[in-house]
Amino acid sequence: MPPAMDFVNLLELEALARARLDGMAFDYYASGAHDEVTLRENRAAFSRIALHYRVMVDVSRRDTATTVLGARVSMPVLLAPTAFHKMAHPDGELATVRAAGAEGTTMILSSLSTTRVEDVAAAATGPLWFQLYVYKDRGATEALVRRVEAAGCKALVLTVDAPVFGRRERDVRNRFGLPAGLRVENLVAEGHGDLVAPQEGSGLSSYIAAKLDPSLTWDALAWLATLTKLPILVKGIVRADDARKAVDSGAAGVVVSNHGGRQLDTAPATIDVLSRVVDAVDGRGEILLDGGVRRGTDVLKALALGARAVLLGRPVLWGLALGGEGGVRRVLAMLRAEIDEAMALAGTPNVSDVGRDLVMPK
Ligand code: FNR
Ligand code: LAC
Repeated sequence: MPPAMDFVNLLELEALARARLDGMAFDYYASGAHDEVTLRENRAAFSRIALHYRVMVDVSRRDTATTVLGARVSMPVLLAPTAFHKMAHPDGELATVRAAGAEGTTMILSSLSTTRVEDVAAAATGPLWFQLYVYKDRGATEALVRRVEAAGCKALVLTVDAPVFGRRERDVRNRFGLPAGLRVENLVAEGHGDLVAPQEGSGLSSYIAAKLDPSLTWDALAWLATLTKLPILVKGIVRADDARKAVDSGAAGVVVSNHGGRQLDTAPATIDVLSRVVDAVDGRGEILLDGGVRRGTDVLKALALGARAVLLGRPVLWGLALGGEGGVRRVLAMLRAEIDEAMALAGTPNVSDVGRDLVMPK
């Protein structure tokens, strides 16, 4: 087996990380819901799209940088919110946020982090965003939102595809619970910090079923706007009508996402629904996309179809498991190099050159 950090692309990371991680943690990170159809489809759909490259363009100088919600990022890739980074590495979210800053991009911290938002914000050297789950305990949610803003986070990402959690059968089999010493740190003060292995089933599912509010509807955006001035992005959109409702309800944008195939299995691949969301939003907000982004060419396809940027989920966790901050940095740098190469070969030296014509009409 090659040394842990010896990978030449992001697709190789999962197998390397598997060898390093505790089985329960690996299964939690890797798995999708049910048959994992959507998990696979997110990748397969990218490979069905052809890049219609242009030649004889001066690509001697290239720039992968862009802006997202007005802030500069070194490439159109942000770090997706993912829970429980200390299961991957003892430095947890602090390593991840340092890597994001060092590579010039933004991390979206999960509500379910194993490090408090205040501590992550203190270690951040670039803009930090916060992903919000709305608890039935609205007082706890409100307190959290106020802490997030006070800590200096620049945007809220409200995840709306998880009224309950999809059944990830590997977690059920493993009776998933947080290892001793780890807690949902952001919610400890409000009494929702413990997530322990149950007698049967996934402890994460039972935590979510007990605590998150499945009655959430679009008026939650107006409620959040009474608590915070931060821009709010709505994450978990796959439909045009929902995208329109999100911006009509005051969202600054949407994240086209099916939660990395972890929620409703057989949901469509995100890249296949991006265009209809872009058309529905019609310039009234920024559109991000995640799910199966592993190659520089995937990023170009998302930009061509109208995304401002993409989010990267599992590869960040694999990099963290393999090498802490340095591992995450290598993952991000490798993807940036692939984007740069794809831009050169596609005849699009700047992110703003990537237009709809770069993908072949079906
Ligand atoms: C997630 N995701 C997620 N989303 C969210 O809004 N809040 C969260 O706490 C988490 N936690 C989480 C944990 C793990 C282990 C995974 C794999 C995913 C979903 C995540 O933000 C994103 O939508 C997907 O991970 C993107 O797909 P890829 O890049 O992992 O294929
Ligand atoms: C997940 C979470 C926490 O997908 O959103 O596991």
